[in-house]
Amino acid sequence: MTFYITTPIYYANSLPHLGHLYTMIVADTIARQKRQQGIETFFLTGTDEHGINIERSAQRNRRTPQEQADFVVNYFTKMTDAFALDTAHGGYDIFMRTTNPFHYEGVSELWRRIAKAKTPKGNDALYKGHYEGWFCAACAEYKSEDEYAKPADAGDPPTCLVHDTKLDRISEESYFFRLSDYDEALLKLYDEPNFVRPEARRNEVKSFVSGGLQDLSVSRLRTSVSWGVPVPGDPDHTMYVWFDALTNYITAVGFGNEQQDRAVGFEKFWPALHVVGKDILRFHAVYWPSFLMAAGVAQPRGIYAHGMWLDPNGRKMSKTLGNTIELDVLQRHFSIDAIRYFCLREMVFGNDGRFGYENLIDRTNSDLASGLGNLSSRTLTMIHRYREGRVPSGKISDEGVLPAKRAGVDNDDMAIASFIVHARDEFIRYFEDFAFSRALEEAWGIVARTDKMISDAKPWDLAKDPGQSQTLNAVLYRAAESLRWLCVLLYPVIPNASREIYNQLGLDQELGLISPKELKWGELKADEQIGEVKPLFPRIDKAKLMSEIKSNSENTSVSEGAERPEVPAGSGQHVTEADAVPGVAYIDISDFAKIDLRVGEVRTAERIPKADKLLLITVDIGEAQPRQILAGIAQYYEPEKLVGRKIVVVSNLKPRKMRGYESQGMLLAASIGEEGKPVIATFTEEVPNGARLK
Ligand code: MSP
Repeated sequence: MTFYITTPIYYANSLPHLGHLYTMIVADTIARQKRQQGIETFFLTGTDEHGINIERSAQRNRRTPQEQADFVVNYFTKMTDAFALDTAHGGYDIFMRTTNPFHYEGVSELWRRIAKAKTPKGNDALYKGHYEGWFCAACAEYKSEDEYAKPADAGDPPTCLVHDTKLDRISEESYFFRLSDYDEALLKLYDEPNFVRPEARRNEVKSFVSGGLQDLSVSRLRTSVSWGVPVPGDPDHTMYVWFDALTNYITAVGFGNEQQDRAVGFEKFWPALHVVGKDILRFHAVYWPSFLMAAGVAQPRGIYAHGMWLDPNGRKMSKTLGNTIELDVLQRHFSIDAIRYFCLREMVFGNDGRFGYENLIDRTNSDLASGLGNLSSRTLTMIHRYREGRVPSGKISDEGVLPAKRAGVDNDDMAIASFIVHARDEFIRYFEDFAFSRALEEAWGIVARTDKMISDAKPWDLAKDPGQSQTLNAVLYRAAESLRWLCVLLYPVIPNASREIYNQLGLDQELGLISPKELKWGELKADEQIGEVKPLFPRIDKAKLMSEIKSNSENTSVSEGAERPEVPAGSGQHVTEADAVPGVAYIDISDFAKIDLRVGEVRTAERIPKADKLLLITVDIGEAQPRQILAGIAQYYEPEKLVGRKIVVVSNLKPRKMRGYESQGMLLAASIGEEGKPVIATFTEEVPNGARLK
């Protein structure tokens, strides 16, 4: 039996960030769990290296596109190494790169097959047509909707956001994939259970496809996009980067290249399970299956779309908001296992999750340090203290039954054994259903149950009474056996700590090869010497660590990140991975709705002694009392000229004190030129005070 799992391949124009790390952790965990069961597993991750964005970042950084890709890949492989996700640590089997020559061969083969194929409705799957779009001559590229400004007059062309010049409507020759013929076939595919998961996402994809599909442009002229795989037989065209990128999943295991096929095995491993973020589900669930259908290649085993990590307040993470999670901070302050555990425990797989350093510290302290870590150290310490480091036999003989009963301990271990067996079964069931957080709850149920058994039996009292020797033995054995089970169950999630506990228990088999399904209660051998007890998850001093993290992030500056790709030169902003992500950091309407903007009228305005930039103004925003606001506009506005002016006030900004005055809001102004000259936002029509801006 084999199993093949993939993460998305990440764009080679941005640095690895938490989102990438997360998907890899999930796939790595699944791969480890399959391997434990003796299933030969192939785990793919990698980078998506072609296309205009990579070409552009290469240009900006004065590199060739290949150098740019190599540069970013270097960061990725450092990251996978640092987080023990690479092959040497038992992680991925291939770091796939779309610039691999065998990929070129494989993707060309897929193209050729599609070029010969008919759609389910009997038409040619591929045809030549014209791609039409808005082109900026100065940028020498087509602009997508978020890259241009719509014209004031509907008949005029839009303008380029970079050059502020009018765009030209240009059409160029392109190959099209006849996606519109695949709707029925796709809908049939979605009826297969587990093809697209979770259910809510499947429904989204279904309704998208039911709405009708448009044919897809799958090539660009080499003169427009040169960094890509040439179209077989027509080298004036390069392949659309998603066509190229998605195909990596089959070329990686040997599709279209004999050597790679011999090294890995396409027939052996395909089809794969694709784990992707919900942001790219459509590409995986609509385009990819259609390409495969056209080429006559089997469909993936399934596509699982996970949610996105947001900040602790539920906002998208972005550099501008300063709410990103930095991989180097994670790496410096948290163990790999704590991060893995948090990722799988905190996000209900499929939903969005919230990631903050504070939550991570809390979970580490409560579940790992006080939970599992404490159970392990108390159990092992007691075995050392009371039984000279040898696991005692858990059997209670006839004469031991009464004393055990008196101490409130069951003379047989049926109750705890069946509890743990049941929890194990549930753990596996949830795990196989991708409900990792539920699975972990089950495992922590075992931690709690075992802890309770110890606390109820009070081994420290039993140890004082020679008549309770067998009772004490039974309690210690049961606790140690329960730990052994936990190590096997938790190995895929927290491989390092599980191994550590396992070794401390005196066991040395390879945990990565022990199937949790095969566990049998009572197989822990008695009389074996256990290892030295070492702390596993030291408690984190939350206040101290938070202040360290804060001061570190305040000290990070552009110069430190000078060798990072894509950092806008001289931007003077904090450098984070998000800098490197091209495009717009969108907010939802609900994000905008959090800002309460009100029309206000300035009642009074005065300068503040010894603060030459600040004006103290009071503003009527329709409340009982005018608001007092401090505004840094004193160098540009005479106070008396402001009185009576209508302005826009952010009314729900947290009040703060400056120069001994409380500012209860903020006024809005444009910031002009390098010195940031303020120009106050105002209205040209009558508006009442307190009116809300929407
Ligand atoms: N290159 C394409 C994928 C091609 S696959 C054939 C791409 N790359 S990407 O670098 O943008 O990576 C996107 C993936 O990163 C998401 O699908 C998701 O798996 C992961 N994440 C990016 N941001 C994330 C979060 N904030 N939270 C969780 N995962 C995130 O798209």
